[in-house]
Amino acid sequence: MPIEKVTTAELRRMKAEGRPITMLTAYDYPMARLVDAAGVDVVLVGDSVGNVVLGYTSTLPVTMDEMVHHVKAVARGVARAMVVADMPFLSYQVSTEEALRNAGRFLKEAEAQAVKLEGGREITDRVRALVAAGIPVMGHIGLTPQAVHQMGGYRVQGRDLATAKKLLDDARALEGAGAFSLVLECVPAPLAQLITEELTIPTIGIGAGPSCDGQVLVTHDLLGLYGGFAPKFVKRYAELHEAITRALAEYVREVRERKFPGPEHSFSMPQEAVDELLALRGGD
Ligand code: KIV
Repeated sequence: MPIEKVTTAELRRMKAEGRPITMLTAYDYPMARLVDAAGVDVVLVGDSVGNVVLGYTSTLPVTMDEMVHHVKAVARGVARAMVVADMPFLSYQVSTEEALRNAGRFLKEAEAQAVKLEGGREITDRVRALVAAGIPVMGHIGLTPQAVHQMGGYRVQGRDLATAKKLLDDARALEGAGAFSLVLECVPAPLAQLITEELTIPTIGIGAGPSCDGQVLVTHDLLGLYGGFAPKFVKRYAELHEAITRALAEYVREVRERKFPGPEHSFSMPQEAVDELLALRGGD
């Protein structure tokens, strides 16, 4: 029997029934298969690919072509989860027409089921246009990394009454524009709880406390694929950086000491052929 794909309707049902939604990032085929096999409901091909895979210092340089390349690989690896493609910086801000064309590429060329856009009330016309074209939209408010220079760094958002109210208004506006769910990044837990209670669409939190309808993390952070800094909201479920570094160093040592490859990693040939081959030595 074919596996049933997670839909926007299923995510809405999960909120209504109080079943937590799980979302993780993936950027390539093998990780997509692992994340899907773990039972995650939504796989986000985040523009965080810029930081954790492409070596950029922010998400700003990530292009549409880079994103399409990664979304295609992820979509090939996912059977059940909904695949959401992150719209990179300046792929939707310039005009509604560009937003439609770029979001459309993710569904037409890369087989994503939905797109994610950062921003609040200022992008609701884009959200409306995409939804009218049949493209499901996930919103993203709070800490929006594409606006890092405007925010003056990666900081918790909505800590005072005025900014908290603005985020609540943004959340309502995005729901009103037709977004099917909303990422809340780095906002105080009580604000995330209020927004979650106020909206009928599911909220998915990252650094937004336990009351959201779902949770998302960057998979590379969760697995400890980096040795370095991880934000406070990340829980490390593994330390793969150390495990991988150890394995690679052992390979290097074994090759240098001629311990790898052993007979079990090598191919043989009939002894007769070996003898005839050896007879050729020194000849022409
Ligand atoms: O790009 C990304 O990975 C994201 C998540 C952190 C929500 O936007």
